[in-house]
Amino acid sequence: MAMADTSDPRVHMKQAAARAALDLVQDDMVLGLGTGSTSAFFVAYLAQALKQGQLRGIVGVPTSEKVAQQARSLGIPLTTLDEVSYLDLAVDGADEVDPQLNLIKGLGKALLREKLVEVHARQFWVIVDESKLAPRLGSHVPLPVEILPFAARATVRWLNTLAHCRAALWLREDGQPWVTDNGHFLALCRFPAGIEDPQALNQTLLAWPGVMEHGLFLNMAHGVIIATAEGEVKRVVRE
Ligand code: A5P
Repeated sequence: MAMADTSDPRVHMKQAAARAALDLVQDDMVLGLGTGSTSAFFVAYLAQALKQGQLRGIVGVPTSEKVAQQARSLGIPLTTLDEVSYLDLAVDGADEVDPQLNLIKGLGKALLREKLVEVHARQFWVIVDESKLAPRLGSHVPLPVEILPFAARATVRWLNTLAHCRAALWLREDGQPWVTDNGHFLALCRFPAGIEDPQALNQTLLAWPGVMEHGLFLNMAHGVIIATAEGEVKRVVRE
C-alpha cells in the first residue's frame, strides 16, 4: 500500500472508518475484501489483527487484482467466489452514499467484481468518510459504467441518449481507455442534477447489450460506517 498522506484529514477519517469495521469481523469468517483507498486501510488492519493473533481463520475473497496483491503481500489467505458458497461479511468503500444507503461505486475501476462478490455476502458494510454522503446519487461524482470494448463508442453514444446523462469513455492520461480486470472499458456518466430515479436507470442500463455492469449498488449495503471530521464514527443500518 502506498504511504498515506497523513496531512490530509480525509486519510484520518478513512482510517477511522476502516478500523471500526474490524469490530464486525469474527474468527473463521469468509470476508469480501473491497477495493480503493479506504478498503486498503481495512485490509492492512485486518492483516495486523491476524498477525497479532487477535483474529484467526479468516479467508478473503478479493474484489480486484489490486486488493488480491495487497492481501497476498500481507499474508491474508485468499479464496475465490467459486470455492465458497457464501461470504459472512464484505467490507468496501464507496464513492457516494445516499440517505437510503444506496451507493455509487466503481471510481476505483473494480465495480463488476465488487458487485459480484458483495451480492454473495450475508452482510455488506460500507466504510466512508463523511464527504461521500450525498442527498441524491450522482450529486458529486459521475456514475462509472463497465462496457464491452466491442463498439464501445456506440455504447457511449447510447448512454448519451439517456435523460440528463453526459457520458464519455474513461481515458487514461495517455488517451487510451482504462481496461478493467475483466478486460472491459469504462464510461463515466455525469448527471448534472443527480440521478432522479436510480432504480429505473439500473433497469435501463442492465437491459443494454454493451453494458456489462454499472456502479449503482441499490439495496445492497446492510450498513455504513461513517467517519466525521470531528473524529466521530457512526454506524448507520439500512431499515
Ligand atoms: C472501487 O472500484 C470503488 O468502488 C471504491 O470502493 C470507491 O471508489 C471508494 O474508493 P476510496 O475508498 O478510495 O474513496
